[in-house]
Amino acid sequence: MTSTIAMLEAKRAAAKLGGGEKRIAAQHAKGKLTARERLDVLLDEGSFEELDMFVEHNCTDFGMQDQRVPGDGVVTGSGTINGRLVFVFSQDFTVFGGSLSERHAQKICKIMDMALKVGAPVVGLNDSGGARIQEGVASLGGYAEVFQRNVLASGVVPQLSLIMGPCAGGAVYSPAMTDFIFMVKDSSYMFVTGPDVVKTVTNEVVTQEALGGAITHTTKTSVADVAFENDIEALLAARDFIDFLPLSNREPVPERPSADPWDRIEPSLDTLIPASANQPYDMHELIRKVVDEGDFFEVQPAHAANILCGFGRIEGRTVGIVANQPMVLAGVLDINSSKKAARFVRFCDAFEIPIVTFVDVPGFLPGTAQEHNGIIKHGAKLLFAYAEATVPKITVITRKAYGGAYDVMASKHLRGDLNYAWPTAEIAVMGAKGAVEIIFRGRTPDEIAERTAEYEARFANPFVAAGKGFIDEVIQPHSTRRRIALALRKLKNKTLENPWKKHDNIPL
Ligand code: HXC
Repeated sequence: MTSTIAMLEAKRAAAKLGGGEKRIAAQHAKGKLTARERLDVLLDEGSFEELDMFVEHNCTDFGMQDQRVPGDGVVTGSGTINGRLVFVFSQDFTVFGGSLSERHAQKICKIMDMALKVGAPVVGLNDSGGARIQEGVASLGGYAEVFQRNVLASGVVPQLSLIMGPCAGGAVYSPAMTDFIFMVKDSSYMFVTGPDVVKTVTNEVVTQEALGGAITHTTKTSVADVAFENDIEALLAARDFIDFLPLSNREPVPERPSADPWDRIEPSLDTLIPASANQPYDMHELIRKVVDEGDFFEVQPAHAANILCGFGRIEGRTVGIVANQPMVLAGVLDINSSKKAARFVRFCDAFEIPIVTFVDVPGFLPGTAQEHNGIIKHGAKLLFAYAEATVPKITVITRKAYGGAYDVMASKHLRGDLNYAWPTAEIAVMGAKGAVEIIFRGRTPDEIAERTAEYEARFANPFVAAGKGFIDEVIQPHSTRRRIALALRKLKNKTLENPWKKHDNIPL
């Protein structure tokens, strides 16, 4: 008995060494943690329960029968994050470069299947050279099995991908189908074809970092959500992030006790809006002053920053926040901001996370670049997402709500549950000057000025909309948190169903 126990321990110790000391040292030299060290940071201490530690690949080509490493390049199992269950896989770059074999894929699929059955998030730590080249099509099949599960799990359990090393070829498509992607600066990259292939095909010379590094994907492409300085920062952020999310679409949003009074008054909000309508202010300030303890986890902060999306809590319960940002492009809706917010709204709706929308939007961005790149279709995504969402929707218009953008931003007409406006709100078909120049075309400058003042007096306020019931109440800015908290209490048991359908046909 003692000897069999010792044998088990010896086998475990060998498996834990992965590709061996030398390759572990090489991993550390790149500033990267190993697969197991990462899980130690991600999960509560001692909570990790490993599965399939002794799984080996089944390849016999290219001398692979003599190179078997227990675990086959991926560490899988479950653990807890602040006491809440998650399923995890962590690719081990020290074993065949973390490349994906048939068996490696089966291990990932096993924990995904379990996560779906029990209703718990899947967190994937990706660090892989892609398909296991020696296995050929068996590896491609393995990828597709993972892809299929990503799709089935979408909207059922939250899926978070951390890219912590290479992620190349078709391997990028599994993370791409998860809900959120975090990347590590300077050590992670994602591309369908790497710099060498790019050079051969298009003659472009580009570095891995510029082609698909963390900065590229969190600023330009929006493939990834947030970039972090190193592995530890990314993993600790993932813990904070998971804390905001429900375990599945069958579970309520998590509740976390908060010492922040639900009815906290913020007098400084009464002076947040500048005297001039053209002057910007930072919408982050409003968000931080409204949510519990100022804790706001922003997604895609560096992409389409004219709209802010992220999670906060009110009375300890998670809310999704969408807000126009007057500091960037005056908070206008354009292609990128529409796509960014639409995906976020759909995530919240899928997981029953109430949506709080702060509106200060001058309209959609004009121009040939926008029109020719399809602002109609992309703007429609956000409109569609808000309109189909059945979660509690609370809207606060702080200043401008002009034109189609007024309709889009969770208006009453799109089944906004409680739509508030600050007294500074201007709800109109467009800005006064533009409106007058159209209606009174050809008039003298004096007349235009006079008519503009008249238009402003008539429409640059929330009362016309409030008079029609399009705004439920004009509220004092300082009481915004209290109003939102009360609204969320009222709406806690909201039920609303869309007509039965197989699925909708959102303009993709
Ligand atoms: C098998 C691999 C591997 C792979 C790396 N290794 N990638 N083994 N299959 N795909 C092994 C190496 O042989 C090496 O083994 C170890 O991992 C570390 O690799 P290095 O090259 O020494 O590391 P590094 O210099 O850091 O470069 C990492 C890398 C490079 C950029 C990822 O290894 C690389 O370009 N690999 C191939 C990438 C690729 O083309 N993958 C297939 C993509 S197509 P030893 O024993 O020396 O430690 C694809 C299709 C999926 O993924 C489609 C799904 C639909």
